[in-house]
Amino acid sequence: MRLSAPLLTAVLLPATTTAQLHQLAKEAGLLYFGAATDTPYQRERAPFPQSYSQYDAIFNSPTEFGQTTPTNGQKWLFTEPSPRLFNFTEGDYVADLAQRTNKLLRCHALVWHSQLAPWVDSPDANWTAPALRDAITRHIRGVVGYYRGKCYAWDVVNEALDEDGSYRKSVFYNVLGESYIPLAFAAAAEADPHAKLYYNDYGIERPTSNKTAGARRIVELVQKAGARIDGVGMQAHMHADVHPSEAELVATMEGYAKLVKEVAFTELDVRIEMPVNATNLAWQTDAYQNVVSSCVKVKACVGITVWDFYDAFSWVPAVFPGQGASLLWFDDFTKHPAYDGMVQTFKKLAGVRKGGRDCKQKRRVKGN
Ligand code: XIL
Repeated sequence: MRLSAPLLTAVLLPATTTAQLHQLAKEAGLLYFGAATDTPYQRERAPFPQSYSQYDAIFNSPTEFGQTTPTNGQKWLFTEPSPRLFNFTEGDYVADLAQRTNKLLRCHALVWHSQLAPWVDSPDANWTAPALRDAITRHIRGVVGYYRGKCYAWDVVNEALDEDGSYRKSVFYNVLGESYIPLAFAAAAEADPHAKLYYNDYGIERPTSNKTAGARRIVELVQKAGARIDGVGMQAHMHADVHPSEAELVATMEGYAKLVKEVAFTELDVRIEMPVNATNLAWQTDAYQNVVSSCVKVKACVGITVWDFYDAFSWVPAVFPGQGASLLWFDDFTKHPAYDGMVQTFKKLAGVRKGGRDCKQKRRVKGN
């Protein structure tokens, strides 16, 4: 029997050689599937420095990842280490990489209590309210202005909420109260009118949590102040064994989508209580699949970013002792089952978004 050319290709090629995450995400109607990355300087502590070439080959593929975020390089500590002294070396590394490898750039993060330059949160800073307001505005103008036109989105305010949904008692909150939040959004909007402006946090993925309510409150606060806010970023640092269901994620995003135009999974990883075994890998696969299916099903969800893709470069083991293997490639560069799980989910849902929109349109026409 002679096989036709497409059939022959289908027989000879395993599915995974053609199916890559960004390409599948686009086919399912998302804007991107991306991976955050770090600079060589900041990876010095990584245990496998010899593995850059394999890492780069995966990262660079424009069909695997269509978006990236610098995991560290644009944070205050690096961009304005001393008052009025800006430094973009670390941030530029990833911004340039994004351009060279044809990826959208999500920019991260302007006002955050962590990885702040010491001059901002040192106890001797003795801020007055006007002086801190000026420092925030100047920082945002300097950084957003420098990257103007390059960022698809900015995480303008990051992690302003405590675990119970009240405001985190950062230096910004302690001196300025909640007013620092709309101030930051207004300054960012002025410095780059085209970048989408996001509030970004962790633990805001479940529909009924106090923190999720807090995130909605922040959006409304910014809007009431007359400033622009375009999106809510769910960091989505998850645990394999207690991850949210697809229905929970859908409900949460629908809640945000009533207030803002877009939502995104901005720092996705799913950590495992080590060691890895078949059970916890199955939980992890389910968690990643829920993210994919919920994002496809909620029209406002523009994309998914994993917080790096290679376990050896993950932040998890250093911060959560005993946990790890949270990403999509193991230390030896074999893929987690979650990778194929997401491929299958994307394929299964490839027509859903388009179909959903068409159905709604039809319904509207019928109703007229
Ligand atoms: C993490 C980085 O991945 C680490 O390399 C760094 O040491 C600490 O910060 N929430 C965020 C990210 O918004 O910026 C954090 O990134 C992870 C938690």
